Amino acid sequence: MSAKIIDGKAFAQDLRDKIAQQVAKLKADHNLTPGLAVVLVGEDPASQVYVRSKGKSTLEAGMQSFEHKLPESTTQDDLIAVVEKLNADPAVHGILVQLPLPAQIDEAAVIAAINPAKDVDGFHIINSGLLATGQNAMVPCTPLGCLLMLKDTLGDLSGLDAVVVGRSNIVGKPMAQLLLDESCTVTICHSRTKDLPAVIGRADIVVAAVGRPQMINGEWIKPGATVIDVGINRIPAPEKGDGKTRLVGDVDFDAATDHVGAITPVPGGVGPMTIACLLKNTVTAACRQAGIDEPDI
Ligand code: GUN
Repeated sequence: MSAKIIDGKAFAQDLRDKIAQQVAKLKADHNLTPGLAVVLVGEDPASQVYVRSKGKSTLEAGMQSFEHKLPESTTQDDLIAVVEKLNADPAVHGILVQLPLPAQIDEAAVIAAINPAKDVDGFHIINSGLLATGQNAMVPCTPLGCLLMLKDTLGDLSGLDAVVVGRSNIVGKPMAQLLLDESCTVTICHSRTKDLPAVIGRADIVVAAVGRPQMINGEWIKPGATVIDVGINRIPAPEKGDGKTRLVGDVDFDAATDHVGAITPVPGGVGPMTIACLLKNTVTAACRQAGIDEPDI
């Protein structure tokens, strides 16, 4: 049996097309244009690429994009003042402060300053609390994207055994919460888990989010299981030439594909879904702030 390769790029494009239709409908029916503000502090090259890509995608979906670029030397108080201005701006429905922040700024303090209703990253503790209690949270984008792909692949997830490898606040914990809300039996594994192969071997769903290249041996995974690989790791690729590198996930893809049911590739799996879900959250935030239902598309 050969696995279905879950095409995250195509899935994300489909979602972005739907979001663009929702935005067009919000403009036509409610004179509402969702707006996303992205704040970048400093000149980190990777963050600059992400921020540019988020702005471009926001405009492509027909939404308003507001970019705030602040110098590396920005103080915490200055950054919080920018966040508070965005909180008060009715044209801004979503606020994202690109992480990581320079060392002089406490990330938790900045996230806490964002109006939870505008927290399209879903990082505010109010949103973690709402998610943990099964209420209307803003859900972090990466786990939301993973859940959408799982439901598209498997349909009803109820009763399935799900293993989440990794316990970060951004991916592992919210992912486990979302799977629990879908009535999965959820196990969270981490660096101290005693017998990782045995736990993974029982799972119908494996979500890998540890950030360690190919650390999950494909042979541990149960035949027919669905695998979502959140890892994006760069490793040396001497076969491509001297000093060349390539991207791999947290799962040993080649060893998994001959017997799992479905798997996301790296790149082209979870990655493209994250920005699509950021746009989705911005539409959700705009509708909630306007007190209207999200358009059905
Ligand atoms: N840096 C890398 N990924 C993210 C993300 O999803 N949100 C924010 N705010 N910063 C990031």
